Amino acid sequence: MEQILQDLITLTGLSEQDSQILRESAPQTEKWADEIVKAFYDTLFAYEPTARVFKEGERPEREITLRNWYLTVVRGDLSPEFWRWQWIVGLVHIPRGISNPFMFGMMSRVQQIFLHKCLQEFDPPQAEKVYSAFKRVTDVVAGLIAEGYFQNYIIAMERVAGFRKSLIERMLDMEIHKMLSEARANRESGRPTTAP
Ligand code: HEM
Repeated sequence: MEQILQDLITLTGLSEQDSQILRESAPQTEKWADEIVKAFYDTLFAYEPTARVFKEGERPEREITLRNWYLTVVRGDLSPEFWRWQWIVGLVHIPRGISNPFMFGMMSRVQQIFLHKCLQEFDPPQAEKVYSAFKRVTDVVAGLIAEGYFQNYIIAMERVAGFRKSLIERMLDMEIHKMLSEARANRESGRPTTAP
């Protein structure tokens, strides 16, 4: 997890300055929590494939979790515990059928609302500063959730199959090469590639 976090931080350009920008703007951005949380769950409950992942009466509990998450981000509380928690969110999402496309779609939605609020409440240079800091942090979060989902899925598969990781990796590598040749052959012949 540490290496993945480091890759995401380096490539997005996230820095200590972003935490500071977020901390300084928190008195304003904290006030947007209710609006963002409401828009988040209104969107998910209005779309059948995402509405059906929720249990009866679960919404209030989910709203509290997302509110805490949002406040942690906008307060710039980016501790090692915060990053580890994001990694676990991917694992928590697996048994509930919450795919990464659902997660990425909603992260984009949160970022769009946040940008709109920044443009409403800050002058343009400040809006860019605050939004960019928020975008970098939430992009790193999305990367961790997605990779946490993927890696934990593989680990679960290894445990179920009882194979060593190196053996699974070699077997996967061979299969991936086979799939890649098939996809290339299909592309050259104009046939559609393997659908997910
Ligand atoms: C911006 C994207 C998302 C973020 C940042 C996020 C964040 C979180 C967090 C922090 C938790 C609590 C993990 C824990 O500490 O136990 C959680 C759990 C959960 N999330 Fe997400 N989530 C996202 C997207 C989604 C989407 C798109 C859905 C539904 C389609 C969803 C449904 C749930 C559910 C049902 C749980 C509870 C799982 C359980 O405890 O059984 N989340 N999420």
